[in-house]
Amino acid sequence: MEDRKKTLYSAVQPTNNLTIGNYLGAIKNWVSLQNEYDCFFAIADMHAITVRQEPAELRRRTLSLAALYIACGIDPDKCALYVQSHVAAHAQLCWALNTFTYVGEMERMTQFKDKSAKHADNINMGLMDYPVLMAADILLYQADFVPVGQDQKQHLEIARDIARRFNNAYSPTFTVPEGIIMKVGAKICDLSEPEKKMSKSAENPNGSIFLSDDRDTVIRKFKRAVTDSGSEIKYDSENKPGVSNLLSIYSLFSGKSIEEAEREFANSGYGEFKLAVGETVADALSPIQNEQNKLLADKEYLNGVLKRGAETAARTANRTLGKVYKKIGFYQI
Ligand code: TYM
Repeated sequence: MEDRKKTLYSAVQPTNNLTIGNYLGAIKNWVSLQNEYDCFFAIADMHAITVRQEPAELRRRTLSLAALYIACGIDPDKCALYVQSHVAAHAQLCWALNTFTYVGEMERMTQFKDKSAKHADNINMGLMDYPVLMAADILLYQADFVPVGQDQKQHLEIARDIARRFNNAYSPTFTVPEGIIMKVGAKICDLSEPEKKMSKSAENPNGSIFLSDDRDTVIRKFKRAVTDSGSEIKYDSENKPGVSNLLSIYSLFSGKSIEEAEREFANSGYGEFKLAVGETVADALSPIQNEQNKLLADKEYLNGVLKRGAETAARTANRTLGKVYKKIGFYQI
């Protein structure tokens, strides 16, 4: 019998337009890992509603993200690709795990503090509970590995703490997950403010490259990217954050190492370099966009993928939930 593959879990929220940060920090890595692992990839719509969403837009973005996963190279025949709200066990486990999580630790989460400041008129319980729902996502599938960007590291730590806490209170129930955070690409920065993370919800859209941006927009944004003083094209994230960010982006899209990229542009000026990065990114995005549009024209196919994905996911999730319910003492018939 074949050895059991290890399990991989990750998700993206269907909010705003995805950026190349989401692609390079997360989805691109999922594609290269999908053959080695048993994979569950979710569309985290329950996380998305912690910030107010327009209902029609949320529905549209959910389907659009499913098409994007496949267009990026996720194979729905190998992985369970599903919508979080379609598997009830996420909310059910979240409730149980809430009783193993302290209010103080949730209040200290960086993302909670940032989002509370940004949405001061809507600091809802869901926003605070966000990391517990994320722990439930991961732990339901007994995930060994969780490939994410740098910004999710703190949430992953909490998921590990909750898993250990539960295991210690009862008996081993959850696999304690490990993050997979890449050296290059885990924090793609804003092109206008290279000290800041590139974000889906940035106020200035010129600093973010959206996966839906057309060729001219991509090239224009890269031409305007902030570079650093001096003229050398060298990786030095401390002193040259702008150039280093562009080198990372170029390296990941071209498949060349940072050193190879430095050599390639050793005799180029910033202008020439920025144009080359822009063209490389635009060349990489255009087939993804075409494929995504093709898939979106076949809603029935996408619905079928999501239905199958939810059924596969629910089988694993309900097995874990059953164990948890039994251990905590819920009466079983
Ligand atoms: P979300 O939707 O904010 O981001 C999706 C993924 O993209 C990564 N990312 C980045 N990586 C590199 N550079 C950037 N500038 C950048 N911006 C975003 C994020 O780290 C993430 O991996 N809470 C998660 C979704 C989620 C989840 C989960 C993830 C829900 N449940 C369970 C893993 C496991 C989130 O908000 O991602």
